[in-house]
Amino acid sequence: MASREAPPSPFKPDVLSGRVALVTGGGSGIGLEIVRQLGLHGAHVVISGRREAVLAEAVAALGAEGITAHYVQGDVRRYEDCERTVEGAVARFGRLDILVNCAAGNFLSPAEQLSSNGFRTVLEIDTLGTFNMCRAAFAPLKAAGAGAAGPAGTGPGALIINISMTLHYGATWWQAHASAAKAAVDSLTRSLGLEWGLYGIRTAGVAPGPIEGTAGMTKLAPGSDAAAAVTEMVNTSIPLGHMGRRWDIAQACVFLASPAAAFVTGHTLVVDGAEWLCKQPLVPRAMVTRVSRGVEAKSRAVGLAGG
Ligand code: HXC
Repeated sequence: MASREAPPSPFKPDVLSGRVALVTGGGSGIGLEIVRQLGLHGAHVVISGRREAVLAEAVAALGAEGITAHYVQGDVRRYEDCERTVEGAVARFGRLDILVNCAAGNFLSPAEQLSSNGFRTVLEIDTLGTFNMCRAAFAPLKAAGAGAAGPAGTGPGALIINISMTLHYGATWWQAHASAAKAAVDSLTRSLGLEWGLYGIRTAGVAPGPIEGTAGMTKLAPGSDAAAAVTEMVNTSIPLGHMGRRWDIAQACVFLASPAAAFVTGHTLVVDGAEWLCKQPLVPRAMVTRVSRGVEAKSRAVGLAGG
């Protein structure tokens, strides 16, 4: 399936000028595109992840595009790594305005085959890791958010973005571990939105749907018929009729970090082409056309239709 071209960004290139962002899991996939878009819009960016070689390669690739990024190696499951990562970002740029929690782990497993350690591992990366980073970054985020809250509040304040999923909105096959982990992440997004708004720290989530070319999609549709599985998904369960791009998720992050989202907090924004609404197969398109034609004809008969 051909990739869809990303259009030019609708945001001004300096919309995040002077702001410092830290992106966990920023060395590859969706995280790397978030780093790219934050950088292209003026932010200084630090990335973290477990594999140093991946981080170094990402920083080099970004540099070739004129985006200066730095990395700190670390595992979000270890609180001391999170403290070291935050300290590294603050030491480099003197402040921290935006934290994006994108580090995640996942695999497909029927619940009856999932080991206790497998379940714990995904919860530790996704949920504990997100809390660890938020907690470790609290002091510099509070400093960046100073003055943003209250009736006379000014400035963009500080921001946490938790990358979530839609798996747990209904129930998803073979994803008991990741669904539980991301449900907890969404809860954390709301709790921190409630508690840390006082400090001028907004907390938001972004829940991607099926995104083309990601490790997640490869794992979701394993085996030789992966392409067929993806095509079937697009045709039967994405109302917009196509998969998302990494760009779509990264642009949602730019929006949340921009002054346009200054009153958005405690909320998770779903960016999925309405896929999660279609856990049941879509009504065949021909039937949709017939039904809507019927409604239109009735509306005309009672004088409701325009024209
Ligand atoms: C069943 C598995 C498994 C698998 C690991 N485990 N992979 N069980 N099926 N495919 C079990 C192991 O057997 C072990 O339990 C426990 O999980 C820990 O595994 P380790 O490999 O020791 O852990 P670790 O090295 O920390 O690796 C973490 C990981 C790994 C999550 C398991 O897959 C990983 O690091 N992945 C890279 C990041 C990633 O997955 N990104 C994708 C995110 S995409 P036992 O009992 O044997 O000790 C995304 C959306 C995808 O999130 C949606 C569709 C999938």
